[in-house]
Amino acid sequence: MSSIKRPSLLLHLLFFILLNLSVLATGQDQFVYSGFTGTDLTLDGVATITPNGLLELTNGTVRLKGHAFHPTPFRFGGGTSFAASYLFAIYCVQFHLCGHGMAFLVAASNNFSDAMPTQYLGLINDHNNGYATNRFFAVELDTNWSDEFNDIDNNHVGIDINGLNSVNSSSAGYYRDDGNFQNLTLASYQVMQAWMEYDGHSKQISVSLAPIHMSKPIKPLLSTTYNLSTVLMADMVYVGFSASTGSFISRQYVLGWSFGINRAAPAIDITKLPKLPREGPKPRSKVLEIVLPIVTASFVLVVGSTVIFLVRRRIRYAELREDWETEFGPHRFSYKDLFRATQGFKNKNVLGVGGFGTVYKGVLPTSKVEIAVKRISHDSKQGMKEFVAEVVSIGHLQHRNLVQLHGYCRRKSELFLVYEYMSNGSLDKYLYDQDEKPTLTWAQRYRIIKGVASGLLYLHQEWEKVVLHRDIKPSNVLLDDELNGRLGDFGLARLYDHDTGPQTTHVVGTIGYLAPELARTNKATPLSNVFSFGMFVLEVTCGRQPVDPTSQVMLVEWVLDHWHQGFLTDAVDNKLQGAYDVDEACLALKLGLLCSHPLINLRPNMRQVMEYLNGDMPPPDLNPTRMSFNIISLMQNKVLI
Ligand SMILES: Nc1ncnc2c1ncn2[C@@H]1O[C@H](COP(=O)(O)OP(=O)(O)O)[C@@H](O)[C@H]1O
Ligand SMILES: *[C@@H]1O[C@H](CO)[C@@H](O)[C@H](O)[C@H]1NC(C)=O
Ligand SMILES: *[C@@H]1O[C@H](CO)[C@@H](O)[C@H](O)[C@H]1NC(C)=O
Ligand SMILES: *[C@@H]1O[C@H](CO)[C@@H](O)[C@H](O)[C@H]1NC(C)=O
Ligand SMILES: *[C@@H]1O[C@H](CO)[C@@H](O)[C@H](O)[C@H]1NC(C)=O
Ligand SMILES: *[C@@H]1O[C@H](CO)[C@@H](O)[C@H](O)[C@H]1NC(C)=O
Ligand SMILES: *[C@@H]1O[C@H](CO)[C@@H](O)[C@H](O)[C@H]1NC(C)=O
Repeated sequence: MSSIKRPSLLLHLLFFILLNLSVLATGQDQFVYSGFTGTDLTLDGVATITPNGLLELTNGTVRLKGHAFHPTPFRFGGGTSFAASYLFAIYCVQFHLCGHGMAFLVAASNNFSDAMPTQYLGLINDHNNGYATNRFFAVELDTNWSDEFNDIDNNHVGIDINGLNSVNSSSAGYYRDDGNFQNLTLASYQVMQAWMEYDGHSKQISVSLAPIHMSKPIKPLLSTTYNLSTVLMADMVYVGFSASTGSFISRQYVLGWSFGINRAAPAIDITKLPKLPREGPKPRSKVLEIVLPIVTASFVLVVGSTVIFLVRRRIRYAELREDWETEFGPHRFSYKDLFRATQGFKNKNVLGVGGFGTVYKGVLPTSKVEIAVKRISHDSKQGMKEFVAEVVSIGHLQHRNLVQLHGYCRRKSELFLVYEYMSNGSLDKYLYDQDEKPTLTWAQRYRIIKGVASGLLYLHQEWEKVVLHRDIKPSNVLLDDELNGRLGDFGLARLYDHDTGPQTTHVVGTIGYLAPELARTNKATPLSNVFSFGMFVLEVTCGRQPVDPTSQVMLVEWVLDHWHQGFLTDAVDNKLQGAYDVDEACLALKLGLLCSHPLINLRPNMRQVMEYLNGDMPPPDLNPTRMSFNIISLMQNKVLI
């Protein structure tokens, strides 16, 4: 049994020791608290002991009081001396806007329920100041000047007996060893220590103050002689603290406290003192003083940079949009999207530079659709509406051999046309830039020729109105993923015409592909398109340009020469190294010549061209000699038939 009981007894003992660790009860005549954890002080009002062991007399709420007393009273007789020391800190919003203060207290009673907060410090009320029935002695740490009690200032220490008109008072501070006064600010939230002694024989009361870590000054801050027996008139007296707040938030803390009867107050172990709450040292208004400007500044900065960002964005993405464009809404792209799609029209995204502008590759930000954006500088506003209407109507054209025009965008002096992206680029690169692209096989070439013919047929005859291309040539034929030939850049002549004015009929097209009659009439027709198509067919078949850049030989003549000599197939591109269908190649060459016949009436229309290419109908027999004559005379005399 006893073996079981012992541990529980031990536990009880341990618990007791732990509980009283901070109260070193070395006898009835003294105590010391180095922190207040686990103590059983008698508290009232807003006084509490914080979880980390601070005695918080007031809690930061206005016009409240709080008291804390040692739980047991002390025997107090005629010659009884006593001494107290305590460490405190007072937190105020501002030194000049402070709660009222706190007091160390020796009193005949610990019932201060009749006392009032604010300037009454929780010691008296508004009608009993100085009454002998109050029976208390106090050392006030007053942080609020009060006219009513003849306070000397708003930062003083006073000896109070039964009331708040101090028997002796002094501005807070201490006398250094050299005798000079050093002031202190009570409400600075710095931890300070106060000492008070009462000599029961000489009735001498002395009070001292000093910052923490300093020992008690030799010369007291305050002293007076008073027979406290006449004040307290009791056998047993209570010792403790009182504090109050006024209109301004403040907190009063006691960190440690010791007391001795007929002996000096024991030393407080300042290493064991609890820590003050963090928020304290920077009173809230100071926090506001510092944080508010920072917050305001950052707010202004954020707002400012947002505004700058938005303005810059507006300028950067500024577009030209007019009322009439609303009907073209779906075809209108935002500049921002195009800018993003092309990574800001970066050079690395350039697909090629054409006669009218640069073409950029892009990926639309939301749909991830690949596009080619043609950027055209364009100053004139004239005719823009018609042009946009045309762009939009062209956007409605859909054929597997046409490069789809998705839409457009306008800026101050720029116009953007958004096309379907053709991954294999333009045909000219395959025909002439051999180091860049591989040679196309005959089958591929023939398919491209047929494709372009089918696209042109659609433009001329299969859509609701005739669309003229005006610039058929390999660089305007783009190749999609499957190397299908697709006509690009069709129907936009109006824009190009536009810059030179509607009156001047400026011929659009590329020398070599222009039908001879255009020089006279300036009017593109489906048959002038057929002429360019014929040239295109010869080019694709022979792998040569309309006019050889080095020898200046005309391609038509060159083909005719071979035909004359009876070796038409020698004109076929020798890069094919003989790998071609002879019938198809002969058909292509003859068709090319037929289409680019100087006599308009002899050219077939696109439907016939399709029939020849599909082998549905044999092409009419051509007399190479007569053709040659015509062409040569044409070129030499520049006379049109
Ligand atoms: N839709 C497209 N997809 C891919 N590349 C394109 C597209 N449109 C144009 N390109 C490239 O940009 C170059 C210039 O185009 P473009 O301005 O139409 O030529 P041009 O003015 O000589 O007719 C073309 O040679 C081609 O390489
Ligand atoms: C202070 O104590 C009073 C009364 O107990 C309470 O109403 C108030 O909310 C407390 N204030 C703070 C800041 O804790
Ligand atoms: C304190 O004093 C008041 C009157 O002064 C009295 O009403 C109250 O009961 C007293 N409280 C205690 C705990 O004695
Ligand atoms: C406290 O002392 C400082 C110098 O040490 C002095 O500037 C200040 O005015 C003094 N304050 C008071 C209230 O005496
Ligand atoms: C107040 O205290 C000071 C400092 O101890 C002392 O010099 C002075 O005489 C005291 N005044 C009164 C009225 O006791
Ligand atoms: C102090 O006051 C008490 C009570 O009035 C009295 O008995 C005592 O003689 C006084 N002591 C002195 C030194 O005056
Ligand atoms: C003292 O307190 C009153 C009311 O509580 C306040 O109006 C006054 O500003 C305070 N004065 C100082 C110096 O703290």
